[in-house]
Amino acid sequence: MNLNPDTASLIAYIGYLVSIFLFVVAIKRLGKVKTARSANQMAAGAMALAVVCTLVELGTIDYTYILIGAVLGGGIGLVLATSVQMTAMPQLVAVFNGFGGAASTLVALSLFTAAEKGVTLAEMDFQGEAGYMTAIALVLSIIIGAVTLTGSLMAYMKLSEVFGRMFGKPILLPLRHFLNIMLIISVLAMTVAWVATTSDPTLSVNLAIGITVTSLVLGILLTIPIGGADMPVVISLLNSYSGLAASAAGFALNSNVLIVSGALVGASGLILTQIMCKGMNRSLANVMMGGFGGEDTSGGGEKSEYVNVKSAEPEEAAMDFEDARDVIIVPGYGLAVAQGQNAIKELSDQLKKRGCQVRYAIHPVAGRMPGHMNVLLAESNVPYDELVEMEAINNEFQKADIALIVGANDVVNPSAKEDKSSPLYGMPVLNVEQSRMVFVIKRGLGAGFSGVKNVLFEKDNTRMIYGDAKKVLEELTTELSESDN
Ligand code: TAP
Repeated sequence: MNLNPDTASLIAYIGYLVSIFLFVVAIKRLGKVKTARSANQMAAGAMALAVVCTLVELGTIDYTYILIGAVLGGGIGLVLATSVQMTAMPQLVAVFNGFGGAASTLVALSLFTAAEKGVTLAEMDFQGEAGYMTAIALVLSIIIGAVTLTGSLMAYMKLSEVFGRMFGKPILLPLRHFLNIMLIISVLAMTVAWVATTSDPTLSVNLAIGITVTSLVLGILLTIPIGGADMPVVISLLNSYSGLAASAAGFALNSNVLIVSGALVGASGLILTQIMCKGMNRSLANVMMGGFGGEDTSGGGEKSEYVNVKSAEPEEAAMDFEDARDVIIVPGYGLAVAQGQNAIKELSDQLKKRGCQVRYAIHPVAGRMPGHMNVLLAESNVPYDELVEMEAINNEFQKADIALIVGANDVVNPSAKEDKSSPLYGMPVLNVEQSRMVFVIKRGLGAGFSGVKNVLFEKDNTRMIYGDAKKVLEELTTELSESDN
């Protein structure tokens, strides 16, 4: 592009401001299912605008590598985004976070490479007060980006169990706390040495490599002891890290759009992490220490078998639904696995046709990521006002005729309230057992994500309807519609 440099800078500056504005509006609109889709498109547009502005600002450059990168990256993103299953979304987010972290580290490292050729580092003048800030931002970008990269790849491998089920569980290495502390101390020592010796380009580059490698190892060691139900929390935290790394790179590059967009990702990732920790009644420190879900825990910590579990066939259950006036449906991870969202909507339409009130109780950590159930039900056009958050619906169960639990387990486990020795104790759960009747649709007596026994299945008013969620829901609907004729 042959624009006068001042004009190019002005155009880019205005473009960056517009994209910052769009990012902020988009993140606000992402908070509601109704506006989330358009918000996503708005954020993607803002990102495209920021990229174009950067190219305008750079002026005449060789586009070969940029085009290859855009086609390759865009192509891989397109294939992944269109082929991924909803239930595998946390893994995809983990990979995206990792690449975000890698990008920040590479951008920061590229400044060192330029420095080795005697160009940038000298020009940056790290000696002044602002210079030190830039140096610290640069090194933070490398550290956080590298930890995010390997931490996210580890999280991806754990969630997708590429090395088997055991790999998904917490792996507690001996002396892990000592090792982590030693690595953190050495990263800090190298950082101080680097900031103090910026006038020696070769030493600078060597220290940068040392900082990068140590941070990569740290990312692995910090994630490996975490497993099971805690993995989505770690992914959200790493998401926040990827934002912080980008923001730090923004300070080093003096790029406002990178500072703001990185800060938005950093803050929203932290908020999400906090929501999840609250939903599981765990502190972040407790999650990060790892080890949860490593042992075979069942109820009070001892291996106990289920007794007096009563089951029902769909046709028997349908008779109770025929008379019901108030039904609360609790969707969980199993509904997403079974892809039963349309079947659940058809059942609820059938119930409503009979004059029954139907509401959906949404637990904050039902499924495998925040908003999982909202998105799943939105796919089958369940009206938003039928989705009720846990705090608002928990007192309604005592008035309900039926609580219908579909593929949910941990989020309806009364042990979280009743059994102090349960690993779930303290986690806020839905009061489903207070309903007149409780029906639980699941394939068997398999445990939930936490691996803990669910005493709900033994309660007098609970009936298990065994089978795949979608199939059972369809059978219930058929039974109900046939009883109409
Ligand atoms: P879970 O406790 O994981 O239980 C899901 C149940 O679905 C399983 O017990 C399984 O039992 C059943 N199931 C699986 N496939 C099925 C199918 N095709 N048809 C019918 N049932 C099926 O789910 P939940 O209640 O939604 O709880 C979520 C868990 O994830 C919690 O432990 C939570 O702490 C954790 N977690 C969530 C988040 C977020 S943000 N959502 C974040 C961190 C942790 P069967 O094998 O017997 O069928």
